Amino acid sequence: MKGIVLAGGSGSRLYPITKIYSKQLALIYDKPLIYYPLSILMLGGIREILIISNKETIPWYQGLFGDGKHLGLTIEYVLQDAPNGIAESFLLGEKFIGDDSVTLILGDNIFYGNLDFFYRALKQKDGATIFGYRVNDPERYGIVEFDAVGKALSIEEKPAQPKSPYAVPGLYIYDNDVVGISKALKPSPRGELEITDVNKEYLCRNKLAVQKIGRGVAWLDTGTPEALLQASYFFGVIEDRQGLKVACLEEIAYHQRFISHDQFVEVISALPKSLYRSYLERILQEE
Ligand code: G1P
Repeated sequence: MKGIVLAGGSGSRLYPITKIYSKQLALIYDKPLIYYPLSILMLGGIREILIISNKETIPWYQGLFGDGKHLGLTIEYVLQDAPNGIAESFLLGEKFIGDDSVTLILGDNIFYGNLDFFYRALKQKDGATIFGYRVNDPERYGIVEFDAVGKALSIEEKPAQPKSPYAVPGLYIYDNDVVGISKALKPSPRGELEITDVNKEYLCRNKLAVQKIGRGVAWLDTGTPEALLQASYFFGVIEDRQGLKVACLEEIAYHQRFISHDQFVEVISALPKSLYRSYLERILQEE
């Protein structure tokens, strides 16, 4: 299973910071936004990762993650010249995906809580799995409609009159057919290759599983300054209460055994004196 983080986009609602780089570098409490979606792929056991972004931002990600070796990952980078849509990821990532299946996570999507829904879906060998999450403002998202027994009936991108309150979060698991399906897509009226059109094609082929995510999981929005502030508070409260960090990539790499004890020690010793380093030293001692 390969993993893609799509972390470009214009993010114009967050101007002026997005004049300089894409919003996935914005700080959510104590670390850049992109750490949160990247941590989800790592928790899913995915170690080969492609980050797709624009030319302004790729060098910043390279500065943060390099080739990923210190996290026990291989991280590659590919340029998306213009925000041509989420499904373009599979064209830009064709070589990277090869014959494999692929999980795509949007670089501005944050999940927190019990991730069993994700781990279960990763075991699926064939077709596609996407998720449904109840929201208050469905007109802003891809929306899935279910029948009485919970089977997906339709999917619509940002419908003016949503048929259900279930939004499709930016976490998608596909078999290798996704590449061919994406190649056959035509741009939507907003000029983008829509991920919703990919999902509709899987639905049409009867190969789409849509799992509802329960209310115990937080899927947070990061599209506006208010949403960023709320997410920062959310993680600030949790981290302060538990004394544990969320989406601390080095810690996850260690706990997932992507890196050995010795590598973990080495990684920590390369960090500047900081709260982040002290935290990792504590994790090491508590083992
Ligand atoms: C995109 C997708 C939409 C999905 C959302 C999740 O919307 O097009 O289907 O529900 O991500 O974050 P966008 O963020 O591009 O408006």
